[in-house]
Amino acid sequence: MTGDNVIEVRDLVVALGNRTILDGVTFQVRRGEVFGFVGGSGSGKSVLLRTIIGLLPRRSGSIEVLGTRLDTATDAERRQIERRWGILFQQGALFSSLTALQNVQFPMVEYLDLPQRLMDEMAATKLEMVGLRKADHHKLPSELSGGMTKRVALARALALDPELVFLDEPTSGLDPIAAGDFDALIRTLQRTLGLTVFMITHDLESLKTICDRVGALADGRVVATGSIDTMLQSEHPWVREYFRGRRATALFSRPDHGTAGSPRSEA
Ligand SMILES: Nc1ncnc2c1ncn2[C@@H]1O[C@H](COP(=O)(O)OP(=O)(O)OP(=O)(O)O)[C@@H](O)[C@H]1O
Ligand SMILES: [Mg+2]
Repeated sequence: MTGDNVIEVRDLVVALGNRTILDGVTFQVRRGEVFGFVGGSGSGKSVLLRTIIGLLPRRSGSIEVLGTRLDTATDAERRQIERRWGILFQQGALFSSLTALQNVQFPMVEYLDLPQRLMDEMAATKLEMVGLRKADHHKLPSELSGGMTKRVALARALALDPELVFLDEPTSGLDPIAAGDFDALIRTLQRTLGLTVFMITHDLESLKTICDRVGALADGRVVATGSIDTMLQSEHPWVREYFRGRRATALFSRPDHGTAGSPRSEA
């Protein structure tokens, strides 16, 4: 693995049931970047994420994260790496019977051996970092808005002070203003904490405002990787349609193209 790659996936093949979902996926994520990952609905983005983190089996190919070959790692090696990443799942996936604070503590309880009082303080700090008011720390997920739920899920992904964060559709279901705020939060935290971010998204505005590089999944493979400008030049039919369709053209031809934190004007 070349020193600056935090994720290196090579020729990954994943079949579920008798369907091949990923058919030779190859890409790298570099240290310190926000890597946006796009692809049609059902193309296998979440399957890829779940395979990288070890929740789904691969048929062949290699997966290296933070310098460790996960496909051949021992359980102990894998646990060491798991402590160094955080995950925000597509379905929010907060535990419904736990409060916001308890949800954030969940990885701490699982991976750290610390007194409860200290974990309470650490979890409260994480919640403050993502902008959840103290008054909301003891609420259950059913008492939180969609935007607040995403923030709690992000705080939980940051619970163990990870180097690498996986985000699966972090802004889906949020209105454009809340989504813009959430993008800005991700960018701020990424810069402040020096995170590497692997972010699956459908959100063109997120791609434009916070992603350093983008990878596109189609036909079971990564068919294009690079800057937005590289994507705009791709001749792959799906990538063309996605980045040069009507909605994309309106967005990417705006003069603020490429600058972080631009105001969101459309859903
Ligand atoms: N555990 C599983 N067992 C069998 N098939 C699965 C499983 N998980 C996902 N699939 C199938 O794999 C394909 C890819 O699903 P995936 O969830 O990765 O899509 P996606 O790209 O994340 O889509 P979306 O953008 O809608 O979230 C789908 O056809 C889905 O039905
Ligand atoms: Mg998905």
